[in-house]
Amino acid sequence: MENNKPINILAIAGSLTSTSSNLNILKAIAKIAPPNVVIVIFQGLDKLPHFNPEIKDPIPTVTRFKQMVKDADGVIFSTPEYAFGVPGVLKNALDWLVFTGELNEKPVAAISASPLYSGGDKALASLLLTLSALGTNMGANSSLSIADIKNKMSGSGEITDNETTPALRAVLTDLITRIVLGSPLI
Ligand SMILES: Cc1cc2nc3c(=O)[nH]c(=O)nc-3n(C[C@H](O)[C@H](O)[C@H](O)COP(=O)(O)O)c2cc1C
Repeated sequence: MENNKPINILAIAGSLTSTSSNLNILKAIAKIAPPNVVIVIFQGLDKLPHFNPEIKDPIPTVTRFKQMVKDADGVIFSTPEYAFGVPGVLKNALDWLVFTGELNEKPVAAISASPLYSGGDKALASLLLTLSALGTNMGANSSLSIADIKNKMSGSGEITDNETTPALRAVLTDLITRIVLGSPLI
């Protein structure tokens, strides 16, 4: 990257709960990121109004969200599954990006985590479809479904499972590789 500029990754959790395992997964990823990678966790999905394609006037929360996505070198999502789908707050946020294209060609990674053994795989599949519709850049290791998350995390949200941290590192490495390869300056 240009002049050793840090790689800026935006992390978006699909859950609004204060004890979210998906939010804790993003925090765990931030902790294992290399020194030249800055991971900013987006806060404010709940401040985005319901998407309506007829709204033309700028809305500050939406403008800020779009700018953060646009400025990021890559975006990583971690989401729960609600009723076999992507939580509405996350889908709503993605719908705001459809017309303006901030995710177009953007390197992304997507994770789902669930206390169930399915690992939120239906939400992950749905999220990947949406990210594909938005024209994102995805790779062979762009996604990860984590089952039985409650038994892989301590009460304070640290990953305690031996296999999960390497799996998160692999997803992050894949994302960083695609960001660096896509940089016109290498
Ligand atoms: C409204 C609702 C619907 C849910 N539906 C599913 C589901 O379809 N599949 C699943 O694996 N877990 C489901 N769960 C359980 C979530 O996976 C669990 O609450 C998880 O911890 C949420 O992620 P978080 O810890 O990041 O908030 C549901 C939870 C809620 C509150």
